[in-house]
Amino acid sequence: MFDALTRQPDDPLLALIGLFQKDERPGKVDLGVGVYRDETGHTPIFRAVKAAEKRLLETQDSKAYVGPEGDLVFLDHLWSLVAGDTVERSHVAGVQTPGGSGALRLAADLIARMGGRGIWLGLPSWPNHAPIFKAAGLNIATYDFFDIPSQSVTFDNVVTALEGAAPGDAVLLHASCHNPTGGVLTEAQWMEIAALAAQRNLLPLVDLAYQGFGRGLDQDVAGLRHLIGIVPEALVAVSCSKSFGLYRERTGAIFALTASASSADTVRSNLAGLARTSYSMPPDHGAAVVRTILADPELRRDWAEELKAMRLRMTGIRHTLAEGLRTRWQSLGAIAGQEGMFSMLPLTEAEVMRLRTEHGIYMPGSGRINIAGLKTAEVANVVPKFTSL
Ligand SMILES: Cc1ncc(COP(=O)(O)O)c(C=O)c1O
Repeated sequence: MFDALTRQPDDPLLALIGLFQKDERPGKVDLGVGVYRDETGHTPIFRAVKAAEKRLLETQDSKAYVGPEGDLVFLDHLWSLVAGDTVERSHVAGVQTPGGSGALRLAADLIARMGGRGIWLGLPSWPNHAPIFKAAGLNIATYDFFDIPSQSVTFDNVVTALEGAAPGDAVLLHASCHNPTGGVLTEAQWMEIAALAAQRNLLPLVDLAYQGFGRGLDQDVAGLRHLIGIVPEALVAVSCSKSFGLYRERTGAIFALTASASSADTVRSNLAGLARTSYSMPPDHGAAVVRTILADPELRRDWAEELKAMRLRMTGIRHTLAEGLRTRWQSLGAIAGQEGMFSMLPLTEAEVMRLRTEHGIYMPGSGRINIAGLKTAEVANVVPKFTSL
């Protein structure tokens, strides 16, 4: 019976990790992987996470089921971190999910259950967005979000897409630290998006996977807060993978902003029902860690400080890299002002391959680079390999 199946292609990013590991050249550089790396090339565990885990080990006295909605205290703290006091809390329904991916999938399942026709997706985007939405049965309408040669957000296209969307359509937005381009929306552009979404009765689905990786914990959600202050209904998918370094613990949440407390209750029951028929309940550990950190002023301060140091490391590399690369591509000076872990270089697939084979510099064929994959001392060596292409 399994013969009815066909072999599925390997995930190109995961395949890249394998190729990198096999490369024995000492100066090889991995700009492909989508995780934060420090100056030693390591993906660290936050000090506050270690401390919270120690506490949990000592105090946790049961492994009984938590329930499909997950840890309610975690949800409350996480929503405060994301949204502050922007909206009436009783109008918000939250459900803990296995990572941001789980949140996006529950959001897509909910949209499908609501009879939603589809979702608008600006390209390029995180490669898993379209497959998740497709798997939930949504129609995907795409538009060009970013122009790689000029390194600029093509905001006119965003406006045209929103103006062309039908009432009730969902619209995927990256809260900040756009993956894969690092492209930034200005405050005025967020205001325009919010006004259009409200006017045209669209449902924003905001993907927040990098809070604290761009300009700061509050700055990275400023656009999102503006949006949810204006639109009556929205979905927010939160990932704790990067901001708390909890990747493998699968920690995240889906929040729905609704028009009333009773609507929030209905949405919550639907999200919980969708979880129940998929994975039943989310894993507990990562959410318990986040809850412990956010509830404790000292752990929270230490976590925010470490996160800030990571952000400043990435910002420093962005500036040095931009200075070097602009000597060959003037537009790449923009990398300095972009946000988060990623930028997208205007390279052909052949150039990406040459960097890999001749210099041991690894990145996907799209030309996306992970800024955090670079060590500060390495940048001066890496830049000439790009500029001499
Ligand atoms: C833009 C974006 N959204 C969502 C996710 C999902 O993250 P998680 O690992 O929490 O599922 C990622 C992960 O890389 C991402 O880059």
